Amino acid sequence: MLRFPDGFYWGTATSAHQVEGGTRNDWSEWERTNAGRLASEAATRFGHLPQWSSFRREAERPQDYFSGKACDHYHRYESDFDLAQSLGHNTHRLSIEWSRIEPEEGKWDEKEIEHYRKVIRALRARGMEPFATLWHWSLPVWMRDKGGWRSDEILNYFPRYAEKVVSALKDDVRFWITINEPELYAGHAYFKGVWPPQQMGIIPYGAAFYNLIEAHVRSYARIKAVHPAAQVGIAKNNIYFDARGGGVISRVVAFFARWWWNAHFLNQVRRHQDFIGLNYYFHNRVRGFRFNQNANEWVSDMGWEIYPEGLYHVLLALKRYKVPIYITENGVADAGDRHRARFIREHLRWAHKAIQDGVDVRGYFYWSLLDNFEWDKGFWPRFGLIEVDYKTFARKVRSSAEAYREIIARNGLEN
Ligand code: FCB
Repeated sequence: MLRFPDGFYWGTATSAHQVEGGTRNDWSEWERTNAGRLASEAATRFGHLPQWSSFRREAERPQDYFSGKACDHYHRYESDFDLAQSLGHNTHRLSIEWSRIEPEEGKWDEKEIEHYRKVIRALRARGMEPFATLWHWSLPVWMRDKGGWRSDEILNYFPRYAEKVVSALKDDVRFWITINEPELYAGHAYFKGVWPPQQMGIIPYGAAFYNLIEAHVRSYARIKAVHPAAQVGIAKNNIYFDARGGGVISRVVAFFARWWWNAHFLNQVRRHQDFIGLNYYFHNRVRGFRFNQNANEWVSDMGWEIYPEGLYHVLLALKRYKVPIYITENGVADAGDRHRARFIREHLRWAHKAIQDGVDVRGYFYWSLLDNFEWDKGFWPRFGLIEVDYKTFARKVRSSAEAYREIIARNGLEN
């Protein structure tokens, strides 16, 4: 038996724009002008995937690229949390939607704050510790119009919003994540230019990246001032850049990739974090100057390689920060639920090994509780422990959720 530490947090993660429905923000605006294009590009983007024929119908319809009602979780959170409770979860990570709290600059919507208070109390009532993310990629439209993350103005607006929310909810929430995956967001929005606001260029990319750092640092101070007992961190997407078997160039390239992608942001905020949230999805084999030379022996519906051992390596690399680590996301798109139970088990096996080797891992949040809206990829990728029927909003627990429940019940894995 591979036992996890006592008091280990077991749960799932979601984000507001992906599950709630009815959000009005920079993404929902972007969807209106881009859904048609995304649908028409689906065959080019996803046609090579082995499961393409099974999701082609969905992926080629423009509706698939509108978050719309999403999972209607905004109205169904109580029954969704009933399911999470019945699956043994003792924690849940959710995000607060800035555009609901501050729909116009400086105007706070107290009803929406009250909504989140109810959501969080619904978790507590079911014995689940809430982890709240303040920013999971969606901006109020007014903030977008001021330039979003590339504008220094956000350095005033975001910490002010953070302070407002934390002051209101501090009696109910101890764990706060300011920002989700800053480097991935900046990369997609400002470097590759495939996410809103689609501004490609090294200058906007750099501005957004450093504003994300500074916004976290300032928010950390503001949060601690109003809620000293709060535990504050970010959720960081780290990749296992793997140069094993390669030559000197591969090792040098992987070294710099690790520094830039995995470490730089964390180094900049290292005096302003009480824990690290780790989101682990990717292994990246480096050969010379080429990235992604992966064997791809085991892949998800989206063609992402499944490489559980990588979790061990990225966890070990975080040890030097000397703060607790929560695995705030790890999940797989698997509509047929053929891989998910094994996916969870194998990742946990490597997480357990990291704990044995001295890494202070204190929780695991599978992404996600529900199938949901996967950003520019629409609804076809199915990450949920629970399947969602988007016509009726019916929920169906997948068998992998039962497998996860057994792990939780034992607080460990069979050898
Ligand atoms: C992560 C995001 C999350 C979800 C998963 C699949 O990078 O944080 O919102 O889209 O990927």
